[in-house]
Amino acid sequence: MLRAIVLAAGKSTRMKTALPKVLHEICGRPLLWYVLTALRAAGIKDIYVVTNPQLHERIGELGVEGILQAEPLGTGHAVQIALKNLPIDKSGQILIACGDMPLVQAELFRGLIASLGADRKTALALVTARMPLPSDFGRVVRRGTHVQRIVEARDATVDELAIDEMNAGIYAFDETILRQAIGSLRDDNAQREYYLTDTVDMLARKGERIVPVISGDHLHVLGINDRVELAHARSEMNRRLCEQHMRDGVTIVDPNTTYLEPELTLGRDTVIYPNTTLARLSRVGESCVIGPNARLSAAELGARVTVQNSVIFDSTIGDEVSIGPFAHIRGNARLEADVHIGNFVEVKNSHLAAGVKASHLSYIGDATIGERTNIGAGTITCNFDGQKKNRTTIGKDVSIGSNTSLVAPVTVGDGALTGASSVVTKDVPAGERVAGNPARPLPKK
Ligand code: UD1
Ligand code: MG
Repeated sequence: MLRAIVLAAGKSTRMKTALPKVLHEICGRPLLWYVLTALRAAGIKDIYVVTNPQLHERIGELGVEGILQAEPLGTGHAVQIALKNLPIDKSGQILIACGDMPLVQAELFRGLIASLGADRKTALALVTARMPLPSDFGRVVRRGTHVQRIVEARDATVDELAIDEMNAGIYAFDETILRQAIGSLRDDNAQREYYLTDTVDMLARKGERIVPVISGDHLHVLGINDRVELAHARSEMNRRLCEQHMRDGVTIVDPNTTYLEPELTLGRDTVIYPNTTLARLSRVGESCVIGPNARLSAAELGARVTVQNSVIFDSTIGDEVSIGPFAHIRGNARLEADVHIGNFVEVKNSHLAAGVKASHLSYIGDATIGERTNIGAGTITCNFDGQKKNRTTIGKDVSIGSNTSLVAPVTVGDGALTGASSVVTKDVPAGERVAGNPARPLPKK
């Protein structure tokens, strides 16, 4: 059986944070989420995360089991505790990764598992990477081609610090051999910690087979220890996400100022202009034009939608809708096909049927509006009576005059009209024309 242990109980001193380090986010997901996703993509189902008390309370959010390490006495101690909690499997394999490496990819885990092999001839496969110096990663000390031991930067001699092959902190062990070694760790080092890395020296001395797996790109194993590295990882992850969508047929005018998250759906021939953020599982159809300066979160857009300088949260937008510049669509708004929302219009929790236009300076909240209705400039649905929100219902083919206030709850029937500056306090029947404050029927023509 192959199981994974993810180490995430460290103190995160350099992060200077109240939030557990691995819950800090890049591109809308916690650091730990990326590691878990890569492990799962490599086919590993049994994953255990070693947690500190703070992280332990929240680990369920990530859909994975936590094993509590009450005191962070080192990576070796973390693995000791994890193994105590896992039933023994004499022919098992244990993959160990750190929870603070969001750029790691499933291929690396697959390569590591393949290098350990299933014939039990190899005790340990570990990932190494060449990196620019100086670096605070542990150094891989080799004798000839054989990995001999790992020395932590803090414990290293000047000569050892000149080694540019680093320990990535990702290992695949034969479980039985790991269990034997882990009990004999000691904390006689600069940090007075039990180092998992000391097992390498122990195995090498016993003549066990240790296979290094070199990661071609050291960024993939970048461990996040402070907020500078966090920003670095974010920009690398964002670059990857942008490239993936560009390869799938999306034009991103400036990837440096387009902010994406995993698990977005973007249709072909959609163009994204600069300073645009797409978040929380947003879905964008084909041939849309998004941005510049747009923010979409949990938004679902059909095809050929235009969104300029606008914000869309938690809302659904039909085909060929145009939004903005400077519009705010939120709170479960539903805009059907061909709706036009112009500048300085806010739409909240409302259903706008096909062809509705609200081109300038309006607030549409808690409203239902029928097909082809035109909402004049400056129209306000007065939905809040001081205690509760009330609904406004407007039929189809209605003409709402500029600066109309609709005092909800109120209904305006199909084909009705309100004059400029009407204050509508009573229901308007279908076909009626009203004006004034309070609005009254106009004489029939
Ligand atoms: C560790 C390695 C180092 C390697 C580097 C790669 C050791 C001794 N050193 O150093 O060789 O180059 O990772 O990033 O292993 N953790 C626990 N419990 C603890 C201590 C740490 O769960 O008691 C977790 C941390 O949350 C972190 C991981 O283990 O996710 C690594 O710990 P960290 O303190 O970051 O080790 P490094 O100094 O980076
Ligand atoms: Mg680290």
